[in-house]
Amino acid sequence: MDSIKIIGGNELNGTIPISGAKNAALPLMIASLLTDGTLTLDNLPRLRDVELLTRILVNHGVNYSVDGKRAGDGTMKGQRVHFSAKDVVDTTAPYNLVSKMRASFWVIGPILARMHEARISLPGGCAIGTRPVDFFIDGLKELGADIEIDQGYVIAKTKGGLKGNRISLPAPSVGATHTLMMAATLAKGETIIENAAREPEIADLASCLTKMGAKISGAGTSTLQIEGVDQLYGAHHIVLPDRIETGTYAMAVAMTGGNVLLEGTRADLLQSAIDTLVQTGVKITQTDQGLHIQSKGYNITPVDVETQPFPGFPTDLQAQFMALMTKAKGRSHIKETIFENRFMHVQELVRLGANISLDGQVATIEGVENLKGAEVMATDLRASVSLVIGGLAAEGETRINRVYHLDRGFEQLEEKLSACGAKIERISG
Ligand code: UD1
Repeated sequence: MDSIKIIGGNELNGTIPISGAKNAALPLMIASLLTDGTLTLDNLPRLRDVELLTRILVNHGVNYSVDGKRAGDGTMKGQRVHFSAKDVVDTTAPYNLVSKMRASFWVIGPILARMHEARISLPGGCAIGTRPVDFFIDGLKELGADIEIDQGYVIAKTKGGLKGNRISLPAPSVGATHTLMMAATLAKGETIIENAAREPEIADLASCLTKMGAKISGAGTSTLQIEGVDQLYGAHHIVLPDRIETGTYAMAVAMTGGNVLLEGTRADLLQSAIDTLVQTGVKITQTDQGLHIQSKGYNITPVDVETQPFPGFPTDLQAQFMALMTKAKGRSHIKETIFENRFMHVQELVRLGANISLDGQVATIEGVENLKGAEVMATDLRASVSLVIGGLAAEGETRINRVYHLDRGFEQLEEKLSACGAKIERISG
């Protein structure tokens, strides 16, 4: 298994191009199942989750082709990929594929809407809590589906197609909102989704679906209104920048010190995290090129944070922010409210010399003068990258094991950081 070796202590200076958002790319790819036309996605990141979902889509009968490099393309440019689900030949998504990534469960929406039946394995993904699928099942039932669970599979059927209805989500689940919105585009009549998630990736999917012929209003608010249509068509869409990658590198610079342009990204995608970073003492400026992050890397002001659904502070940046707070001048508290088991990075940050105590869903962090390099283990996607940030700021050598988690969600991480002066390399093994 590969590991990452970091010699910490260097400032970060230079430019990091921000990739297309993983959490937008996945539902956008899944939307290709809704039409027999070709959906072209630009700025698709090269990630393990994207590859895995491609395999799942291929199993349903989707053809795909990747455009080759064009003159002037930099090495870090996202891909342009064409997805074409002319026929959905298999309505089953098997355990061996779906168990590796929770978002692959979301194919249930488009497949059921288009084929009137779907047999999808219960999902897997990062071990950050129980992550049930009850909102999906109840929502699809509201749209007229008959659903049973048999031997680990959700089996959904609908005679004559889905029918629009009013759905009120018990909590603003991102996955349930994506899935029910996609399903409702081909349902008969109007669907209202109340308490919908407001993450920018929802609005990105709604914008793509609209280009495909869907009738959606309210994207980006907590009430979505979808008027079903008979058919959707091919379209072209550019995946929006990754706000979690943006926040991650901003926190890395905040901790190591330096001056980095996060190219092609926008503050409004993560305003709450930006505001928090500014309170810690980081200077952040938006220009046409992207976000400029400037930090001294010391005298970091401690700030308390509570994760919330968008527009609040994202749970996907909680681990990275905790890494930053380990070096703050004083005590901070971080409360996790979205997932019940998302503190697995704590014991690994402690190996680097951090002083953190846990009480239920609240972590208390006493800032220390300096972290010290150590051997640590990546436990999930976002936790892994918090160890990278910690390692970059620590004195001496840090070795991070089990880094396959990182490849799920961070494109060319070592290359991007090395280009800014970090001493980071992957050790194959
Ligand atoms: C998505 C993101 C993930 C992010 C999370 C929260 C993608 C690919 N993944 O995950 O990176 O951390 O949003 O911002 O976009 N829940 C239920 N029943 C359900 C569905 C959800 O109880 O049927 C609960 C979950 O257990 C969790 C909360 O709702 O406690 C939020 O989960 P959700 O928004 O659905 O997360 P994901 O869509 O899985």
